[in-house]
Amino acid sequence: MIRLYYGSDTQKTHHVVQNILMPLFEQQQIRVEDKVIAELTDADWLDHEVFILGVPTWYYGELQSDWEAYFDHFKKLDFKGKTVALFGLGDQWGYDEWFIDGVGILAQSLLESGATLIGFWPTEGYQFQKSRALKNDNEFYGLALDEDNQYELTQERCERWVRLVLSDLETAGELALQRCGVAHTNQEN
Ligand SMILES: Cc1cc2nc3c(=O)[nH]c(=O)nc-3n(C[C@H](O)[C@H](O)[C@H](O)COP(=O)(O)O)c2cc1C
Repeated sequence: MIRLYYGSDTQKTHHVVQNILMPLFEQQQIRVEDKVIAELTDADWLDHEVFILGVPTWYYGELQSDWEAYFDHFKKLDFKGKTVALFGLGDQWGYDEWFIDGVGILAQSLLESGATLIGFWPTEGYQFQKSRALKNDNEFYGLALDEDNQYELTQERCERWVRLVLSDLETAGELALQRCGVAHTNQEN
């Protein structure tokens, strides 16, 4: 089973998780258990190997408030042997120098903690000046969603990204899929 943990201040991330991402995984017959960051305990990281983490960016490049409160503890967790896909919500026009910075902040911490990251996402189709979420000139460390300016693209972006995450898990080997309790996926790329 995949674990999906997220924080949300104005419920946009919550909406995307509950109404788009969870149903998409369900359609693919992938079991996903979701939880908000404020309710996490250490047991939620133990004995699980595959995670999806959702983070909106707030206040000029800061993590969403629950993530912010949790972050010092998060940095101390051991992610060796764990696979993580990130997604982030932001506003590429209103905050174009900090677009989805939260994804970059989590990515950096996860890499330092030994995680394998998957689900990198092309920067094509976005307009912004700067982002800490850039892996290179062409890719973010995770899915970028902009419910403020491009909400009409969210469903399709999520559909493509879910297929990408499942394909990356397969590429990472059956092992990663077995770790999250998935034997087969029904994807059409
Ligand atoms: C005061 C304020 C500050 C924001 N700062 C950023 C920012 O630095 N970078 C960014 O990409 N988006 C920023 N945003 C946009 C939010 O990330 C976006 O609205 C997001 O969808 C909120 O998600 P949530 O409702 O799940 O918290 C900001 C929005 C507000 C209202």
